[in-house]
Amino acid sequence: MVDIALRGVWKSFGTADVIRGLDLTIRDREFFTFVGPSGCGKSTILNLIAGLEEPTKGTILFDNEPVADLSPGRRDVAMVFQSYALYPHMTVFENIAFPLKVRKERREVVSREVGRVAELLGIGDQLGKLPRELSGGQRQRVALGRAIIRRPRAFLMDEPLSNLDARLRMEMRAEIKKLHRELGITTVYVTHDQEEAMSLSDRVAVLSEGEVRQCSRPGELYERPADVFVAGFIGSPPMNLFGARVTSEEPLRIAALGAVLSPNVSAAPSGGTVMVGIRPEDVEVDTRPLPGGLEAEAELTEPVGPYEWVDLNVVGVRLRARAEAGKVRAGQRVFFRVAEKRLHVFDAETEKRL
Ligand SMILES: Nc1ncnc2c1ncn2[C@@H]1O[C@H](COP(=O)(O)OP(=O)(O)O)[C@@H](O)[C@H]1O
Ligand SMILES: [Mg+2]
Repeated sequence: MVDIALRGVWKSFGTADVIRGLDLTIRDREFFTFVGPSGCGKSTILNLIAGLEEPTKGTILFDNEPVADLSPGRRDVAMVFQSYALYPHMTVFENIAFPLKVRKERREVVSREVGRVAELLGIGDQLGKLPRELSGGQRQRVALGRAIIRRPRAFLMDEPLSNLDARLRMEMRAEIKKLHRELGITTVYVTHDQEEAMSLSDRVAVLSEGEVRQCSRPGELYERPADVFVAGFIGSPPMNLFGARVTSEEPLRIAALGAVLSPNVSAAPSGGTVMVGIRPEDVEVDTRPLPGGLEAEAELTEPVGPYEWVDLNVVGVRLRARAEAGKVRAGQRVFFRVAEKRLHVFDAETEKRL
């Protein structure tokens, strides 16, 4: 168990600055996730923490001790990757036992610990099998078992669920969450999947091109995205984002969607236009007039069970909204209403939240 601090960490490969000034502390026992699109530097960060790469600038500390001089082995972290990297010729038992064998633990200890871990992961009856005889989910459980058996100071997980199909991914997500709760080991998790990040983590750092755009609890990322990038990246389906003209500064009023809207903001914009965001779940649609509502054409509907997403054409802007299941047909004239207090407003110049 450990807290992990990154202080002014930069990493360059040749002339490419891949990590650009990381400053944050992952707390002891925390489930901390780096999320961002492919190529933004997630794996590089894990490699830096593990000691497989060295920072170009800056310091990494475990419990306030710089780790630059510690080899990967002596940092005592366990990594789990997207590809399971099991030893194909070894049984499940031998794969899980491997880290203890390396430490030359006594045979009774190995046997007891492998049994305990396999039970915890629900693969107690698979111990005699070879990896090729297992399903993808079972193989990833074996990889997790091998990581947790030696109780490392921290887990580093690099997109461990990306190779699994949707249903298994959900199952394993719950499994990983349970493991973290039971073992209480600091976990640094990496994924490109914002939903996975939101559902697993105590805190999430949203990365873009090697920089942290926001580091917050999941609820805060959803409720108060710090900039346009985070607003568009977090949430599914994504937030509607469009430009709007400022008609009054104090209080802020903006002309958008064929109306004048009064959002809740705490700062003034730097120019005469702003970027505005509204989540589809904060736009209500009905076939009957809504008090204070506006008219639009429904262009497309996408049923998702209990409700449906409706793409509206509002004076040329596409606005995604949520309607009751089966309520709206494509091509129909409908009425919609935006929850004004749920509008997100960003400076047009800096793209930061106002
Ligand atoms: N060893 C390396 N040498 C050169 N470039 C690298 C190396 N490792 C990663 N990169 C580059 O750094 C960037 C970030 O890579 P990576 O950390 O793997 O991103 P992610 O895991 O978020 O997809 C990419 O542009 C990648 O091509
Ligand atoms: Mg990666």
